Amino acid sequence: MYQYTIIGGHELKGEISVYGDKNTALKLIPATILAANKCTISNIPDITDITTMMEIMKDLGAKIKKIKTGQFEFDTKPVRKTTINPLLARKLRASTVLMGPLLARFKKVSIPHPGGCVIGKRPIDIHLDAFKKLGAKISIKDSYYHIVTKNLKGTKIIPHSISVTGTENIMMAAAMAQGKTTIEYCACEPSIVALADFLNQMGADIRQAGSPKIIINGQKQLHGANTTVISDRLETGTFIILGALCAKELVIKNCQPNHLEVFLEIIKKAGVKIKRSHNQIVVYRSKHLKPNNITTNAYPGFPTDLQAPYTLLMTQADGVSMIHETIFEGRLNYIEWLNTMGANITLCDPHRAIVSGPTPLVGKKIVSPDIRAGMTLIIAGLMAKGKSQIDNIDLVDRGYTNLDQRLKEIGARITRKKI
Ligand code: EPZ
Repeated sequence: MYQYTIIGGHELKGEISVYGDKNTALKLIPATILAANKCTISNIPDITDITTMMEIMKDLGAKIKKIKTGQFEFDTKPVRKTTINPLLARKLRASTVLMGPLLARFKKVSIPHPGGCVIGKRPIDIHLDAFKKLGAKISIKDSYYHIVTKNLKGTKIIPHSISVTGTENIMMAAAMAQGKTTIEYCACEPSIVALADFLNQMGADIRQAGSPKIIINGQKQLHGANTTVISDRLETGTFIILGALCAKELVIKNCQPNHLEVFLEIIKKAGVKIKRSHNQIVVYRSKHLKPNNITTNAYPGFPTDLQAPYTLLMTQADGVSMIHETIFEGRLNYIEWLNTMGANITLCDPHRAIVSGPTPLVGKKIVSPDIRAGMTLIIAGLMAKGKSQIDNIDLVDRGYTNLDQRLKEIGARITRKKI
């Protein structure tokens, strides 16, 4: 277990680069299972979720070779196993997206219920219902889902909710199904478009990715391809809030502001000053923040993964803001920790909170509940007066590469300790 000690209240300044998108890389890697020959993926972030995904892939038989920092070659020809290692799957929600490619290539897959951030029940019924509609049979034994099919046949699929990994899983299962599959009510995240582009480079025929309706014409076989992971919009959004709260001037490089348009509109309304170009954002410490309500939504709406950092921003706004988290029922679990630091947030129900600001924050001993809330508490420690100690940093390592080093480089007083 790792712990951060932070001495807060120091003004940050300088440049921070954004790494490859975790939630895109975690789907491109399993997608290589569909390729009859080798693939190369660049700009893969060095985070523990990726390490876990690569361990799962190697356990299945894949050969993974590091070419240089962030760039790996994937040879999945040797893959023979279709049962996912339970200890690894339980660490990683994204292990769900191994079901689609394994089912498409081997006509069978066995997986325990996936783990990941504790931010709600996180069912996988959308995935399983879609596989059944495509012609798979599903049985549950020894807390494993066993999914088998003679042949996947294209059909119309209408998920009951917008699901990111659900859309991605169905796309990969349908890429080699017989005939045409349409998915209505799809997720539209940049990770969906990036995955569709990669699959199409492998010879798939996927149209309208990024829109609520995706059309997939199944192909007999897909071949190897090379791709580069897009920038992580969630790192970008988090660093913007870090800059708005703690930095005289923070230059955020290698980012893709066009993946954050709604978020950028909303923080501008809240009084955050930014300057943007096509791959860079400069943010300045905001003196007078304005209260501004948000409702999280599927992309392109306000991202649920930026709800926690935004709530922290609103603790410094002059007035009252409503935070409405519509995607997950367990994603306001960090609020009590912010209140112990001096924030004034009322939790109305599992989906709604009211923030009254501005409230000065003081350093405390806190525990990180999940990736995004953990990062928020780190920013709170950086802006608070005095010392903070944040436990369970291992969760933050799942989503942010080399964080303490990068924060030190812009003036943060932060040390990492194994406990
Ligand atoms: C992805 O999770 C991301 N994870 C999450 O990021 C992100 O918060 C979420 O999408 C946003 O929707 C990865 O891509 C690895 P969903 P996912 O399926 O796909 C319900 C992070 O911090 N639902 O889009 O698991 C579900 O309960 C992580 O990087 C079903 O009911 O989320 C939720 O209310 C956290 N049945 C809603 O849909 C299902 O079968 C959206 O979930 C699937 C989902």
